[in-house]
Amino acid sequence: MFKDFANLWTIVGLAQDLKRDAPLAMRVAGERIVFFRDAAGKACALLDQCPHRGVALSLGRVENGVIECPFHGWRFDGAGRNCHVPWNPDAKRDNLSAVALPCRESAGLLWLYTGFDPKEEPEPTQTLMASHRLALCAQSVIWKAHWTRVMENMLDSPHLPFVHRNTIGRDLSKHLGAGRLEMTFEATANGGHIRASVDGSPRDGNLDYRFPNVMELFIDPPGKKFRLMVACIPEDDRTTRLWLLTMRSFARAPLFDFAFRWMNRRIAREDQAIVESSLPAEVPPPAEEVSVRTDAPTLAFRKIYHERLLGSFVSRPRRREDAAS
Ligand code: FES
Ligand SMILES: [Fe+2]
Repeated sequence: MFKDFANLWTIVGLAQDLKRDAPLAMRVAGERIVFFRDAAGKACALLDQCPHRGVALSLGRVENGVIECPFHGWRFDGAGRNCHVPWNPDAKRDNLSAVALPCRESAGLLWLYTGFDPKEEPEPTQTLMASHRLALCAQSVIWKAHWTRVMENMLDSPHLPFVHRNTIGRDLSKHLGAGRLEMTFEATANGGHIRASVDGSPRDGNLDYRFPNVMELFIDPPGKKFRLMVACIPEDDRTTRLWLLTMRSFARAPLFDFAFRWMNRRIAREDQAIVESSLPAEVPPPAEEVSVRTDAPTLAFRKIYHERLLGSFVSRPRRREDAAS
């Protein structure tokens, strides 16, 4: 399970999209996951596959914090425990559980752990939001690309004057031709700081990579806070869901969200077709593509991917044999 994306916390969506009494289905790294809220309102996640006949639990209903399979009506709580097996009052329900996964809500975001035994809590990206009363504006888009290509695109500055020549790359394009771009990647405990300078002058807009799949761009205007975060969530090996999250300390009224949404969507569309055309779909080992000095940040990500994620997986919990009664 969770091939090449195992044993890590990932943002999967917005907490507000997980309503009471309604399942929320997602795909993460090839696995179907269903989220719902338990009786206390806490977010829960199960593999979206009934242990009885493999049906998607997300097609069923949630009532009083318990999800009911749409096929034969078995019910499961947020920990995956079987609470009811119709027609079988003598069923050994302890042996008929669904598979639960750790999940969390943090500052408006929903997180999933792609494994069963998290050693740490989710990376506290959102301490900033909580401490500065930032307005969050979020949207998601789907690209038909392997998530590693999408992630590299987010960490890549030399493409800005080409792909985004009329938007966020306009300024950098003035230096094209004569300028020498320097890109550095300074590794940190949970990712890295990426810095750019042209002809020795540092560029505005610092960029951070956060393991495994988030970039955060710092575009703070004087005296204000403005951040763009993009989380690249693999749905499967050819599909990535991007969550585009802007956080701002100004123009906080929801009325202004449309402007940020419009801009994010426009920029994402500029990248999409380019990234989707990459071959091979998944980033190859560094030696299999040619690179130059300014590829340092993407090569750093590629190294992390190959060393920490590629080949990772978790085993599905074994089922007991004595379930039938
Ligand atoms: S398939 Fe879920 S209860 Fe039978
Ligand atoms: Fe881009």
